[in-house]
Amino acid sequence: MQFQCFTGYLSLFIVFACQFGILTSEIIQPKCRDSEAPFSPAGEIQFCEAYADFGCCTHEQDEAVRIYVESEWTKLESVDSNLLPYCYDYLKNLTCLQCSPYSFGMFFNEVVNGEIKFAEHPKLCDELVTDITNACPEIARHFEVGANTIGDERADDSDGSCYPIIESEKPTGELDGVCLKELAGGLRNPLALVHAGDKSDRLFIVEHIGVIRIMEKGGELRDEPFIDLQEKVFTTDTPGDERGLLSLAFHPKFSTNGYFYVYYSRVASGEFDHRSVVSRFTVHATNTNKADLSSEMVILEINQPGATENGGQLVFGKDGYLYITVGYGGADDEMAADKSNLLGSILRIDVDTEDDDEPYQIPIDNPFVNVVGARPEIYAYGFHNPWRCSVDPGSLPDGTIFCGDVGDNIAEEINVIHKGSYYGWYHREGHLCRLNDEEKEMCDNLDDMHNDDQLPIHFYEHTPETGNVNAVVGGFVYRGCQSPNLKGFYIYADYILGKLWYLTQNSSGQWINHDLSFGNKDVCNYGYQGPWDKHHFILAFGEDEQGEVYMMTTTSVSNTDPTGTIYQIVDPARRTDPSTCSQIDSITIGEEEFPVLSAASKCTMTYALMAVSVFSQFFSSF
Ligand SMILES: *[C@@H]1O[C@H](CO)[C@@H](O)[C@H](O)[C@H]1NC(C)=O
Ligand SMILES: *[C@@H]1O[C@H](CO)[C@@H](O)[C@H](O)[C@H]1NC(C)=O
Repeated sequence: MQFQCFTGYLSLFIVFACQFGILTSEIIQPKCRDSEAPFSPAGEIQFCEAYADFGCCTHEQDEAVRIYVESEWTKLESVDSNLLPYCYDYLKNLTCLQCSPYSFGMFFNEVVNGEIKFAEHPKLCDELVTDITNACPEIARHFEVGANTIGDERADDSDGSCYPIIESEKPTGELDGVCLKELAGGLRNPLALVHAGDKSDRLFIVEHIGVIRIMEKGGELRDEPFIDLQEKVFTTDTPGDERGLLSLAFHPKFSTNGYFYVYYSRVASGEFDHRSVVSRFTVHATNTNKADLSSEMVILEINQPGATENGGQLVFGKDGYLYITVGYGGADDEMAADKSNLLGSILRIDVDTEDDDEPYQIPIDNPFVNVVGARPEIYAYGFHNPWRCSVDPGSLPDGTIFCGDVGDNIAEEINVIHKGSYYGWYHREGHLCRLNDEEKEMCDNLDDMHNDDQLPIHFYEHTPETGNVNAVVGGFVYRGCQSPNLKGFYIYADYILGKLWYLTQNSSGQWINHDLSFGNKDVCNYGYQGPWDKHHFILAFGEDEQGEVYMMTTTSVSNTDPTGTIYQIVDPARRTDPSTCSQIDSITIGEEEFPVLSAASKCTMTYALMAVSVFSQFFSSF
């Protein structure tokens, strides 16, 4: 029986094969038996040298293979003392196949109720089976190959998943499209995913409607919300309503002070549509999974003239100050360039020191503190709708702040935020002037008008395929451990197009834009997803404490519809040696806890500990 999704086959069989994912091309992709990408081992591979550069075994696993092979060889020798040295090579080489970057395919057996079942031994191609059976019958018996088992369908050469045929192409490990790993669903417009910086590995998900949920490591959502602000938050279930709970930022010292900050819309009186509120809340004294609704301290309130373009990002800079993004408010185009109001600006405040009048202070080096008529909170201005921003912790010394500035009707921008700069709204979108001919001079001569005029690092014009409606979703610079091919990429998206890109800087400092495509079904499978088959809106990105990047989407943008999903972005072609990607401060051996002091000691102690657990786990899968 052949497992191929091939049009000539009976359709019933194709359905079966596709449903269970038994598609040859999927199986013969480089992949490890944990369904994840191969890697370059960080520690030395002394035994299975064939996989020293790229494969599926860590240093500890390689050691485990060596010990296993040596003990098996001793056992075999005691049965047949005439075994040839050549046969030892067979035992070694075939045992080492679990370190092959193709180990998934060689050991893949079947999928039962969505669970992948692996065979005990690798699939060997017919020619090898003949040779091994003739030359080293003991080894053949050990691997259960031979006359009695060749008839088994797994031993069919034709699907290309047997050794050595499967290894005929050397995997490049180069980035060729990312996959998505679904972690949680059923969320109502998830707009932010934030970690608390408290080493708890919890992720806090902001639901537009006014609720913050906790997602545990591994993707499990806690039933009880962290905080439910629905009685305070003003929004409607109209698809596309921009008002609601928009963001969350944990104080850098959250572990000790329990403070976190939210940005939400509240009902306003009189001429205003609503107010944007920035408030501080405090986590419950004894239950860190619960925040105290009565602990609200309002930090800042901004009257909003319209229902749209509210900005709404909160983020702590590496300088410890709170940055707040505010859209131009959807009413008066002139507001963003006018520094006497907070609209269309990015604000920077010090929330650690209270002033006589305000629950915050102005950092003394804010750019407009001494400018008459300007609000001293303003750090940069001239924005249309700086909707999602992030700090790149990997860039020195201050941590670059990137913002996607959602445009009006011409272009979408990605900006790097500089102190005191003017970002062009409403004269420009991208590099494009939006004024009529008479006014154009204002635009062309912007340098004369604004000395601090700042162009985006990248912009794209609105696309006909979405009816010229677009909205950029600012993302993150990938600083995670798991996907080394993505390191340093600023990943962002378009909400309507459902498309991802990344920006990198070349050696002369120019920003270069690249498509970040999704891998096809052959590589994004078994727990991963590739391109979407139905229309999804990309709402936002998030980052965990290890720097892994997540994406939030929804199929319905009404904030009462629980169609929001959280995905982790992963590279199916290459990952980092998994033994080096854990962030641990201490380890427990027996009853005792040992602090892990430096990166080097962390590695040694982790290895020591892992060698034990890996060894037992590894062999339970033989
Ligand atoms: C074992 O692997 C080595 C290195 O790849 C190769 O040179 C040798 O021919 C192999 N031996 C057998 C018996 O498969
Ligand atoms: C960087 O990119 C710019 C714009 O594409 C290009 O003109 C420049 O030559 C590049 N510099 C290098 C060193 O590649």
